[in-house]
Amino acid sequence: MDLPKQINQVTADDAILWRDGHLFLLDQRKLPGEVTFLELHSAAETARAITEMVVRGAPAIGITAAYGVVLAGSLAFQSSPEDWKGAIESDLESLRRSRPTAVNLFWALRRMAALIQTLPDNKDPGDDLLQEAVRIHTQDREANRRMGELGASLLEADSGVITHCNAGALATGGYGTALGVIRSAHKRGLIRQVFADETRPWLQGARLTAWELLQDGIPVTLLADGAAAHRMAQGGVDWIIVGSDRIAANGDVANKIGTYSLAVAAKHHGVKVMVAAPTSTIDMEIPCGSEIPIEMRDADELLSCGGRQIAADGAGVWNPVFDITPAELVNAIVTERGVVLSPNEKKIEKMMMNRPESL
Ligand code: MRU
Repeated sequence: MDLPKQINQVTADDAILWRDGHLFLLDQRKLPGEVTFLELHSAAETARAITEMVVRGAPAIGITAAYGVVLAGSLAFQSSPEDWKGAIESDLESLRRSRPTAVNLFWALRRMAALIQTLPDNKDPGDDLLQEAVRIHTQDREANRRMGELGASLLEADSGVITHCNAGALATGGYGTALGVIRSAHKRGLIRQVFADETRPWLQGARLTAWELLQDGIPVTLLADGAAAHRMAQGGVDWIIVGSDRIAANGDVANKIGTYSLAVAAKHHGVKVMVAAPTSTIDMEIPCGSEIPIEMRDADELLSCGGRQIAADGAGVWNPVFDITPAELVNAIVTERGVVLSPNEKKIEKMMMNRPESL
């Protein structure tokens, strides 16, 4: 098995691999210290890996779930060749329940379910399902490249940028959404400095974004989450560039907890906010952000850090892991189908109707 074993052998594009009929996920909980791939054989194992943050980031969750359906299809056909479509239902449901906020998960599962409807009842669906999962994976990577170019075109020379969480190759099919824009802008020589919020409690910024950017030779300066507003007040920040887990039809944006505070502070300091996300992140069935389900996670994620208790015994915890940034605080939504400035429902609807031939 040709899987990388050392940190200098693995790249962020290797986070989701399909090899010899099985799914391999780079365990993102252990980065950047350790390179471990988990080998998954079933949809139940895939759902658990998503819930437990082995893989995270909205598009990556969707892609992983699609491969989970491939595993489920082959197993269902082996156990119930007469009724594999019935047998796969509980697996689809366990994947749907793995995390609630990122709509890419439900989008990818809907795509796989639509394909299942068209497949013959009496043939192993493995190859057809795999082709569709690979298509979802490849299309996401292509969408990120296009968003990278579109987003970079909004930046001027000598730009200072703050990003939050990890919206990079690790969080997607490759290249990244927000980090895709930063990568493309860096290639064009437009970036003076990238600041990455450390992003408590999972430290996606410190562990993952910093690792990805440094691998690409893009210098990065870490900020404690609470330092971002002060950084803006000091000057030298032109854009906040983030990804998203779900964008409502009116342009309200769900993203990692702390994005809303960044956007409020950005407005105060005249800093612009860009959200880069594929159209698979846009949920036209949800009219506004208040209807987006926000995941609440375990108290222990705040009570401890790196396996050590850090909070006073007896402290209560409120741990929503996403928040909603109202559309009025967003200057640009960048998708593979185009850029929406000052987003609202009409503009988003129009952009969704635009289908570039190459995608
Ligand atoms: O909890 P996570 O790590 O899955 O949260 C990820 C984010 O909030 C990302 O910003 C978002 O999914 C966009 S990834 C391209």
